[in-house]
Amino acid sequence: MTENLDDLNRETREAWEVNADVWDKRMGDEGNDFFNILCWPALASFLNASTTLSTGLQPDSHILDIACGNGLTTRRLAELGAQVTAFDFSSNLIDKAKVRLNDHASRVTFHVIDATDESQLLSLGEGKYDSALSNMALFDMANIETLFKVLPKLLKPNGTFVFSITHPAFNNSSSVHLAEEMDDNGEIKTVYSIKVSRYMTPHNQRGLALRNQPKPQVYFERPLQYYLNLGFKNGFILDGFEERAFPPEIPQFFPLGWGGKFSELPAVVVARMRLTS
Ligand SMILES: C[S@@+](CC[C@H](N)C(=O)[O-])C[C@H]1O[C@@H](n2cnc3c(N)ncnc32)[C@H](O)[C@@H]1O
Repeated sequence: MTENLDDLNRETREAWEVNADVWDKRMGDEGNDFFNILCWPALASFLNASTTLSTGLQPDSHILDIACGNGLTTRRLAELGAQVTAFDFSSNLIDKAKVRLNDHASRVTFHVIDATDESQLLSLGEGKYDSALSNMALFDMANIETLFKVLPKLLKPNGTFVFSITHPAFNNSSSVHLAEEMDDNGEIKTVYSIKVSRYMTPHNQRGLALRNQPKPQVYFERPLQYYLNLGFKNGFILDGFEERAFPPEIPQFFPLGWGGKFSELPAVVVARMRLTS
């Protein structure tokens, strides 16, 4: 990475401010297939198990929703009965999130905060949160070292950090989606695969989260070991891990986009890390 991280962070924020409207319209109240099929089932199960000894969230669980966008996960968590403090560095997205808040508004507080800024993060309150959640956002952050360093202070003892990210090994900006035809023992088959040419070295590259967004944003790509080692270095252990692929019956939204044709290749990783004290 040769570009200055502060400049990249500023560029990222500007992109999300510009793209907020398109993002909000696409995700709406309920989110897309990526969210509903790949991310949420694993996130919800990791959070349930982490916040109570029986099943389901405790009504007084306090969850920190990191980079909440238009409040998709915030609303789900509040509907499950949690108290949610949610933040994003895009004030336009926080405005959208406030508009979409439903009957559970009394359980939610929103803030405009930059996750790369230590003092802003600490202003969220120390020792307050049972769990922190970040859905599909860590790879959008110019720097996640500060967040991993501050989280142990924000969380209660033995608190958990549950996050989903695009699978760094299969779903990165070097991925090429392929369809090829073969004769398999007399049966003509189309084989769907993904060719990846970069994984090990952290890398940033501009790309599109949604095909019709006005401004490309920067992706900050890191191998899995980067995320896990950062957690281990800051006092977390890994106690939940799922690689998530679309089931075969899920149609492709675009002919070679993610969907059931790639059911053997995971597009998303969901992990739970837990503080050891
Ligand atoms: C792909 S969106 C996901 C939004 C939301 N978590 C969801 O599931 O819909 C990534 C989000 O990360 C936010 N983001 C990126 N860098 C950030 C930072 N440094 N601090 C706070 N939010 C950030 C963006 O503004 C955007 O809302």
